[in-house]
Amino acid sequence: MTLASSAAFPARAVSGAHARITGTGSHLPARRLTNDELAARLAADGIETSDAWITERTGIRARHFADPGVGASDLAVPAAQAALTAAGRRAEDLDLIIVATSTPDMVFPSTACIVQRKLGAAGCPAFDLQAVCSGFVYALTVADSMVRAGAARCALVIGAEVFSHLLDFSDRTTCVLFGDGAGAVVLEASDAPGILACELHADGRHADILCTPGSIAGGQVVGRPLLHMDGQAVFKLAVGVLDQVAQAVLDRAGRTAADVDWFIPHQANLRIMASTARKLGVPAERVIVTVDEHGNTSAASIPLALDHGVRQGRIRPGDTLLLEGVGGGFTWGAVLLDF
Ligand code: ACO
Repeated sequence: MTLASSAAFPARAVSGAHARITGTGSHLPARRLTNDELAARLAADGIETSDAWITERTGIRARHFADPGVGASDLAVPAAQAALTAAGRRAEDLDLIIVATSTPDMVFPSTACIVQRKLGAAGCPAFDLQAVCSGFVYALTVADSMVRAGAARCALVIGAEVFSHLLDFSDRTTCVLFGDGAGAVVLEASDAPGILACELHADGRHADILCTPGSIAGGQVVGRPLLHMDGQAVFKLAVGVLDQVAQAVLDRAGRTAADVDWFIPHQANLRIMASTARKLGVPAERVIVTVDEHGNTSAASIPLALDHGVRQGRIRPGDTLLLEGVGGGFTWGAVLLDF
């Protein structure tokens, strides 16, 4: 696609040099498992864990799991529809769809194309973006660039995951941490920001500490398609980079932590979130926390938390939001925006 001159776009005058979120939505599968319920399920297979251990080490109290046969697109579509409704837009208005996911419906086509079909939004570009738990900040950054370049004026950016599909329920160090869900935003061209600053990073040298090392070849699954994590290595890397990347977007926008109304970090672990907020100087009461109820939903966690904050009436138009992601790759990034 040639930016700004694609055949799909010339009839649409793109107004505004900025991109702004105009609607949010989210969706969780109905099946909710508390720590006690999960512990009982694991105990049946001889795996020991407890609500006390999970809550103390992670802050997680419950998570939602999709039923068998439910894919990322099934969670993404209601989240997208809620975001479109909030923005006062219809699927036909979309000229870009990006889905951040590490748990796509199938090898191909992309989950974004499946979501496009289910929404009835044919014609616009649609693609998946894979940056694991940093996926949403990566996708929002790409969409912001495309809107500011004139390649789109009404974009749908989704994070959608069914991480339960990847969990090894014989590994208590990982299976208690994750959940399923989806969150979405509509991002539109605007005369005023909107998105103020974005910064993305990756360091592939750490690919092995958080991975699902399986693939498909010759009609067979090759490797082990279950989530593997060295939790302590991830913890150390995450707390080492997150305050730096958050400070970088603040500096770039000429803002300080005092200007941040709401800090919305990737919801992986309450201890990582609290440590980052402390280092930045953002008070705990300005951090949106949903990890307690959702677990770690990877690329879905930030837009889910954002939508919850909006629907609870805590996040209001004009608020300054600091979003921040970290995950497998190793990847990390931040986005600062005026809502
Ligand atoms: N229940 C009970 N005991 C457990 C459990 C469990 N679910 N899991 C581990 N343990 C035990 C271990 O076996 C170990 O026992 P031992 O001392 O007898 O050997 C003990 O608890 C301590 O284990 P550690 O792994 O050292 O526990 P730690 O305090 O490091 O906490 C955790 C583990 C929560 C995973 C932590 O390392 C962490 O939060 N890491 C970051 C993970 C993360 O945030 N990942 C997501 C970011 S990227 C992304 O989102 C994909």
